[in-house]
Amino acid sequence: MIILAIETSCDDTAIAIVEVKNKKFKVLSNIVSSQIEAHQEYGGVFPSLAKREHEKNLPAVLKRSLDPLIRANKLVDAVAVTVGPGLDPCLWTGVNFAKDLAQKWNLPIIPVNHIEAHILVNFQFPISNFQFPAMALIVSGGHTQLILIKDPPAGGGKYKILGETRDDAAGECFDKVARILGLGYPGGPIVAAEAVKACGGRASAALPRPMINTNDYDFSFSGLKTAVLYNFKNQPVKIRKSKKYISEMCKEVQQAVIDVLIKKTTKASREYGVKTIILGGGVTANTELRKQFKKRFKNVLIPPKKLSTDNAVMIAIAGYYNIDKATKKYGNIKAKPNLRIRN
Ligand code: KG4
Ligand code: ZN
Repeated sequence: MIILAIETSCDDTAIAIVEVKNKKFKVLSNIVSSQIEAHQEYGGVFPSLAKREHEKNLPAVLKRSLDPLIRANKLVDAVAVTVGPGLDPCLWTGVNFAKDLAQKWNLPIIPVNHIEAHILVNFQFPISNFQFPAMALIVSGGHTQLILIKDPPAGGGKYKILGETRDDAAGECFDKVARILGLGYPGGPIVAAEAVKACGGRASAALPRPMINTNDYDFSFSGLKTAVLYNFKNQPVKIRKSKKYISEMCKEVQQAVIDVLIKKTTKASREYGVKTIILGGGVTANTELRKQFKKRFKNVLIPPKKLSTDNAVMIAIAGYYNIDKATKKYGNIKAKPNLRIRN
């Protein structure tokens, strides 16, 4: 079966076409059109601008993604689309585009949860290779969640949210810290690139590891960002602007986030007898985080960097595992900005 998947929940316009044969996934096309330049001057994603950019980009992205299919003389069997969580106007743009396409080609639509897709992108290989219970750590621009997965995700997953952030997400923290330090948007990759340049020190101060020892699986990253802000404001201008200070601060904030994530993941995996750790979301593109999780956990799945950040291959894979939700009652497919993963 061939699934065409559409992802427009935030600032990436993405379409992928994935063929599934004998439970094996073959990516026929994977196009991601980033809006970074459009949002750069606002220092973050501006929803109505993102919607306009999606509307502008979708037809061209579709055309490019269809090329390999046309060359191979193959047809699409179903359209998968992200229905939530995400920015309402952006989600609706993708959903309406999916409906138009499905109607034109007389195909069913599979509604997909973006967070579940960040998890299921790791299930590109036969499920029998994985051991359960598994636990996912989702770290993206909008979410930080620890999710227990009791059984293989055939027919949709069986999930339980063990904990989540009480304020800012991990990616959001990087984005805000980058803004404080005057480094641009999106912050995650910039903070990571600066951190590599640090030679050792701790930028005049060790940052806190918020909630690292609390007796739950929740997170809080807003205080970490505030600690960076105060530290920054208390430095003489000459120091603040120095390459040494910036790189050391980036290294310290990155390590603070990683320390909290590893500690909470370790605690939850022990309590629930977890056999496989699954990482997902844009922050898992972070090289240092990948390295330290691999070192700490024997059985950890991390998507290739290209599939860590938002893309539509993950939507196609999640669509395949949710095929029972495919419908031609297009009126039932609605954007759900606050959609939560559930049993
Ligand atoms: O999953 P994603 O692409 O979009 C959402 O669903 O939010 O995640 C985007 C987030 C942004 O906050 C971005 O700064 C962060 O992922 N990110 C990174 C890296 N690449 C992207 N954070 C740390 N290190 C990176 N290399
Ligand atoms: Zn995402």
